Amino acid sequence: FVSVATTIQRNPLFSSISSDDISHFKEILGEKNVIHDEEKLVTANMDWMRKYKGSSKLMLQPRSTEEWISLSVVAEWIDCALSGVWPLKKAALAFRKVNSIYFQSLVQSFNLCLRISEMPPHSLFIMIRLFLQALCLFASSTYCDSDKLGNYGTHLILQVSQILKYCNSRCLAVVPQGGNTGLVGGSVPVFDEVIINTSSMSKIVSFDKVSGILVCEAGCILENLVSFLDNQGFIMPLDLGAKGSCQIGGNVSTNAGGLRLFRYGSLHGNVLGLEVVLANGTVLDMLRTLRKDNTGYDLKHLFIGSEGSLGIVSKVSILTPPKLSSVNLAFLACKDYSSCQKLLLAAKRKLGEILSAFEFLDTQALDLVLKHLEGARNPLPTSMHNFYILMETTGSNESYEKEKLEAFLLHSMEGGLISDGVLAQDINQASSFWHIREGVPEALMKAGAVYKYDLSLPVEKMYDLVEEMRIRLGPAANVVGYGHLGDSNLHLNISTPQYDDAILAQIEPFVYEWTSKHHGSISAEHGLGLMKADKIFYSKSPETVSIILVGSYLLPKSLCVDIVQLMASIKRLLDPNGILNPYKVLPPFLAS
Ligand code: FAD
Ligand code: MLT
Ligand code: ZN
Repeated sequence: FVSVATTIQRNPLFSSISSDDISHFKEILGEKNVIHDEEKLVTANMDWMRKYKGSSKLMLQPRSTEEWISLSVVAEWIDCALSGVWPLKKAALAFRKVNSIYFQSLVQSFNLCLRISEMPPHSLFIMIRLFLQALCLFASSTYCDSDKLGNYGTHLILQVSQILKYCNSRCLAVVPQGGNTGLVGGSVPVFDEVIINTSSMSKIVSFDKVSGILVCEAGCILENLVSFLDNQGFIMPLDLGAKGSCQIGGNVSTNAGGLRLFRYGSLHGNVLGLEVVLANGTVLDMLRTLRKDNTGYDLKHLFIGSEGSLGIVSKVSILTPPKLSSVNLAFLACKDYSSCQKLLLAAKRKLGEILSAFEFLDTQALDLVLKHLEGARNPLPTSMHNFYILMETTGSNESYEKEKLEAFLLHSMEGGLISDGVLAQDINQASSFWHIREGVPEALMKAGAVYKYDLSLPVEKMYDLVEEMRIRLGPAANVVGYGHLGDSNLHLNISTPQYDDAILAQIEPFVYEWTSKHHGSISAEHGLGLMKADKIFYSKSPETVSIILVGSYLLPKSLCVDIVQLMASIKRLLDPNGILNPYKVLPPFLAS
């Protein structure tokens, strides 16, 4: 495990969990959703790579979030009441969505009154509202049978909000956790932070078949969303090897890239709306389902990729593309990296309108998969090639596209760009090809210790780093390169029998300096988490220099905004006590 105790101090301002806290959480969540049994906490305290281990004593599993009464609902109630039609039961059913804890609802209605105070103050109006709401409360208790209520539950609606509000008031640090598949130590506690696990927030709220817009809770597992959409004739715009465990809230919070970004773009483009609970428990409702909305600052983007440091994502609205009927996948071999690059360029030019994925792995990566992954088989007769490409096309005209792809492959083979290759003949063969590419991280884990780097670099330079690293480390390590070539995203992984500080000292800071020198990013898609919180300066303006290169101009630092400082200000604005995912994303000295 990475020992953080020597490098990071537990923030002394944070409280430790007391038995009163546990009782309070049980009141909010019910007994079974408050987990403090040590054995059950073992998995939640450890990350997927088994590299980071926290010592949290408590995991909370909320089930839903507060549904604020929208002004339009209130207006509807008032209209209803004034026109003399007040079907109590209907109102009660509507109201159960709000909250059935009397006191909180009353407080909420006062809040609401304050919220509508932009309207001319009108005490009569407020009195009518309160009266109607009280009536509604009465109705909800009288007419809603508790089994049906169970869907939302007496205590379910306010949970995330109430938990955060309480943690903030007690200065209890929290770590939001989805599927815990993150690769930078962001999803596990560093010390004793309370784990807020979203696995039980897994409802699909709505799907619009015309627009393809899906609204769901943050804890929906990506693969479940894929299956749901498949039945509707749609696909998710993102796909990754961790789809069986990762959750959409985690995907949004890491701005996960994956295998389809090349065609469908990043989550910054596909996520249309978010509901987020802030550190103080207030709900930021940005859950829009509009493709276009230029009404001021688009705040949802702050939360996409913020790795749980600014708020807990509770609901997501996402644009999903229709499922097209014709998908082809080729597994190709190239003799050198230069051929891979040329092939990418040619494919973009000749197959651009149907090209949907362009992934690569080197021979070291393939060897690891063949050695460690059950059922993995090389689709080609030999593994004597240096590089392998997975090239996928997706469209709606099967015969035309297949013919076009085959002609392209033949031409590329004759021209020497491809040394060998095979086209998947059916869906099973296609998934066995994907199994090879998606299986590289798991194969690496089985091989021993892994030093994992996720870099954005100019495509022509990308593999130079792998080769330099091989020379640098010699036979002590197996240096492996794979990734999303179509997105210029290299996964440089260094596999050794066990973690060794001497090897780490050979890798870092060299790998970050190299990336910075080539104007790359030290985190293309995995985020910064704990692993790279203090490395952010390699990708954002360095603090130490007095002159900064802006485009082709040299500007004195005093004229430039320090981006990391600005990020820290935003963090402090939204989370003044710094309780949300501390020690992650930003260097701790800046975040609190
Ligand atoms: P977690 O790991 O639980 O959390 C990740 C981060 O998000 C943490 O900082 C956590 O605090 C925060 N978080 C989680 N849920 C919420 C929430 N609801 N609100 C606020 N913050 C939250 N990543 C890629 O980008 N591309 C890939 O191709 C890819 N492939 C992978 C393949 C494998 C085999 C594995 C193990 C991982 C892969 N990943 C990939 C990394 C990982 O799967 C993604 O980062 C994923 O999006 C994390 O989702 P999760 O639900 O597991 O989140
Ligand atoms: C991948 O592309 O396979 C993932 O990002 C995981 C990894 O980098 O190992
Ligand atoms: Zn990746």
